[in-house]
Amino acid sequence: MIERKVGFCGAGLMAGALMEGMLEAGVARAEDLYAADPAPQRREAFGRRLGENVFADNAAVAAACRVVVLSVKPPVVPVVAADIADRLTADHLVVSIAAGVPLGALREVLGTGRVVRVMPNTPALVGAGAAAYCAGADVTDADRELVEQMLGAVGVCVQVAEKQIDAVTGLSGSGPAYIYMAIEALSDGGVLMGLPRDVATTLAAQTVLGAATMVLETGRHPGALKDQVTTPGGTTIEGVRALEAAGMRRAFMEAVAAATEKCAQLAREPEAQ
Ligand SMILES: NC(=O)c1ccc[n+]([C@@H]2O[C@H](COP(=O)([O-])OP(=O)(O)OC[C@H]3O[C@@H](n4cnc5c(N)ncnc54)[C@H](OP(=O)(O)O)[C@@H]3O)[C@@H](O)[C@H]2O)c1
Repeated sequence: MIERKVGFCGAGLMAGALMEGMLEAGVARAEDLYAADPAPQRREAFGRRLGENVFADNAAVAAACRVVVLSVKPPVVPVVAADIADRLTADHLVVSIAAGVPLGALREVLGTGRVVRVMPNTPALVGAGAAAYCAGADVTDADRELVEQMLGAVGVCVQVAEKQIDAVTGLSGSGPAYIYMAIEALSDGGVLMGLPRDVATTLAAQTVLGAATMVLETGRHPGALKDQVTTPGGTTIEGVRALEAAGMRRAFMEAVAAATEKCAQLAREPEAQ
């Protein structure tokens, strides 16, 4: 159970997923969660879960909570920082989930090094996220534990060095799009071979989920799991040969590399966004 009060500046999709996940996983009590958002309908939505702990003003969240989550779009981060910087004390931890905003920039606008930068991904909205975080200089072990509990409520969470965050963006940040394409393509293959679309898509998506669960739950190398299902001279190795001929593994590696490079370029030249 998280014993500190946690407040979200920005009551949007991602904050909602984190709030619901934390409540459902039992790592936080509703009375310990707060939120601020300028939009009345967003305050109303959060108010249904958090009662009176929802404000229009970010500074009220920083005053009420010792953990403040910046859950606004990246261009809004300096606006929220200006609202809360005066309220931050040495006891505050700030957790930013804004994509592409570096720890150095957060430290500068917030005036504290007790900052964590998180790269979440969209499946957090269904409790199956893959997030990575990096920690600023003044972050404590207890802060890290809190961040892992918070993000662990909506999926898995790992710590990385900040220089690895672009690669996280290229892999798990952008990765859901690659896998949606893989599911769509598998489904197309099923339709080509005579399956109805709904049946093909269900089988394709469940196969991806099942294979991923096998990797995570057995801890075995994916290559070893592939070997286990390829009978000598059988059907699956024929499919594997077709994928190799089409350069499937190289295509996935190139996708991660291209997205990582684009992310690094956007960090260098934000005006290119
Ligand atoms: N969604 C994802 O899958 C995902 C994945 C990775 C990273 N992220 C990161 O997560 C962050 C939040 O994304 P999201 O999808 O949750 O965005 P979102 O749904 O648009 O939520 C942001 C919320 O902040 C509100 N807001 C705007 N200005 C504000 C201010 N000055 N103070 C307080 N709140 C303000 C917005 O209100 P209005 O709508 O009225 O402007 C909106 O309700 C982003 O930085 C994004 O990069 C999201």
